[in-house]
Amino acid sequence: MSRLIVVSNRVAKTDGANKGSEGGLAVGVMAAMEKAGGVWFGWSGKVDNRDETAKHEVRGNIEYVTVNMRQSEYNQYYKGYANSVLWPLFHQRPELMQYSDRDLSGYIQVNKKFAEELLKIIAPTDTIWIHDYHLIPLGKILREAGVRNPIGFFLHTPFPSLDLLRTVPGYKNVLEALLHYDLVGFQTEADHLGFCMGVCQGLGGEILKHDRLRYGDRHCTARVYPISVETQALPGVADRGETTQEYQRLYESLGDRKLLIGVDRLDYSKGLVRRFQAYDRLLGHNNEFLRQVVYLQISPTSRGDVQAYGDLAKRIDREAGHIIGTYADFDWMPLRYLNRGFRRKTILAMYRLAHVGLVTPLKDGMNLVAKEYVVAQKPEDPGVLVLSELAGAADELDAAVIVNPYDVDGMAGALAKALQMPLDERVDRWKSMMSVLKKQDIHAWQQSFLGDLLHLTKPQTIDSTALKY
Ligand code: F6P
Repeated sequence: MSRLIVVSNRVAKTDGANKGSEGGLAVGVMAAMEKAGGVWFGWSGKVDNRDETAKHEVRGNIEYVTVNMRQSEYNQYYKGYANSVLWPLFHQRPELMQYSDRDLSGYIQVNKKFAEELLKIIAPTDTIWIHDYHLIPLGKILREAGVRNPIGFFLHTPFPSLDLLRTVPGYKNVLEALLHYDLVGFQTEADHLGFCMGVCQGLGGEILKHDRLRYGDRHCTARVYPISVETQALPGVADRGETTQEYQRLYESLGDRKLLIGVDRLDYSKGLVRRFQAYDRLLGHNNEFLRQVVYLQISPTSRGDVQAYGDLAKRIDREAGHIIGTYADFDWMPLRYLNRGFRRKTILAMYRLAHVGLVTPLKDGMNLVAKEYVVAQKPEDPGVLVLSELAGAADELDAAVIVNPYDVDGMAGALAKALQMPLDERVDRWKSMMSVLKKQDIHAWQQSFLGDLLHLTKPQTIDSTALKY
């Protein structure tokens, strides 16, 4: 079997420095890698102008190869083009984009640096799987350096429509770079369609049979692979979480009150301001919930040195202060808002304790919190997932209470409905969501992507008949 090389900006080590605040990519790829093994290449998470040598470290069946970033690289590539251009653009917030040619060239430079290091370790039989918006040009750079191995790319974020994509200078290069992969994976049909329309209308390319796309002499296959969670293993992890001190203290502090929980990186895509406003309206319009509920929002600080994130943190602090000042009593706190992360087992046990799981992003690629919340529930007394229709997870988890995250009154109504939902309806909805998650777990995700990548790159006749779109 060929060795797998996974490449992503963020590399998760089980005892990594940002433990408890990892996002979907780190959690999902870790679960997939733990089983398959191989090399995981990416940023060490450190900014250091002096030490640029790659570090190799083996843990279990994963060899981690990581590189530091220089301050200028971090500013231009990570803070700049990746998180101040592509991230807002891909999450439908072009007004937050801060584009500069300098950041774009820093972004390409870091992709070249990653390529240089990878060229030292790639063997002819390796399969290369590149992840996320930080590394879109990497496949093309590797191809130009002569790499002939199968190379797949998976985008963890949404992919925008052509109308939106056009707002970024040089958008055609984004589309064209993606065409250098053998296989490009998206979270949802809408993301896939955005890419196909971009290639056809933005570049003048064609859609061929079997999900293939062509532009000039470039061909690639693009498909949908919704990322998922470790459905089988997570209940056991939640069991272990129930023995932690944090869980016990939360449990005891609640008494008979119902818990609502939200767990999101502090990011403007997560819809926290409107979520807090919906909770405010729930309490303001329904006296019966006063003193009867507690909302726990866990939001580790993320990308705090990007201006839009700093502004968001201040805005959310104000909303939280307003809720506490308006409704809290000397012996009841309606909102507990924490800017730090917890161990996964603790979080999973907390999900299980929560009567309502709140996942209401304004836009999200998938959102694995939604899936983890469902899997962590007790089958005989499951909680209710309140889920934004703009999260990728809503395509599969349609038995959740689906909300429009821009409709604050609608969300307040959904919270009331979730808090009052009878047991039989909760069980029916949970079973329906679990039947999806049992089939589509993280291992199925990994196997279907890598299986397709290997199949597509076996020598074969390519059918290049163009389909009319
Ligand atoms: O796709 C986006 C993503 O990689 C998520 O998986 C994760 O939530 C987030 O970005 C992590 O961001 P960062 O690496 O900047 O902390």
